[in-house]
Amino acid sequence: MRVLKNLFDQNREWAEKVKESDPDFFQKLSKQQNPEYLWIGCSDSRVPSNQIVGLLPGEIFVHRNIANVVVPSDLNCLSVIQYAVEVLKIKHIIVCGHYGCGGVKAAMEKDEHGLIDNWLHHIRDVYRTHSAEIDVIEDKALKFDRMCELNVIEQVANVCNTTIVRNAWKRGQELSVHGWIYSIENGILQDLNVCVTGIEDVPENK
Ligand code: CO
Repeated sequence: MRVLKNLFDQNREWAEKVKESDPDFFQKLSKQQNPEYLWIGCSDSRVPSNQIVGLLPGEIFVHRNIANVVVPSDLNCLSVIQYAVEVLKIKHIIVCGHYGCGGVKAAMEKDEHGLIDNWLHHIRDVYRTHSAEIDVIEDKALKFDRMCELNVIEQVANVCNTTIVRNAWKRGQELSVHGWIYSIENGILQDLNVCVTGIEDVPENK
């Protein structure tokens, strides 16, 4: 018996359904991808990029990691951004965080979590940068929510400060960077209104 048979069964069903509504769908997609969006989101299984925004395969280029972190030492993430901006010429980069993010929560605690603490260090930097704002929030849940938002805002700044994005703007390429947050409790996306569309609006890295 095939391992994980149910997943293969579901795959066949899904492919059939897609073909029913558009018989040439896979044929067309196999020739090229032409997405307009790059999604940088959390790996959390409850935050699936395509489904949340109702996009089909081929419509969104995706990079996900724990707590949607963008750091200049991460060759994986930078390669995705470079390919998306320079080859696919996507028009929008969306950094999407979510409330209740386990990565952000772990970074706010003092406990040790092993290897992952090296990654969470980047989120602790977000806290350090904004500690004056965070420390005065008494309510624990509100504090956590705000940290999830600030993490997105900081990662938007990090995206804007990559040489890839800066050079795209210098060349006059049309490109916007957005910061959004998703609620796993109601499935609703919110714009954090930190959109950057050109080099003159780039937030400084603190
Ligand atoms: Co998360």
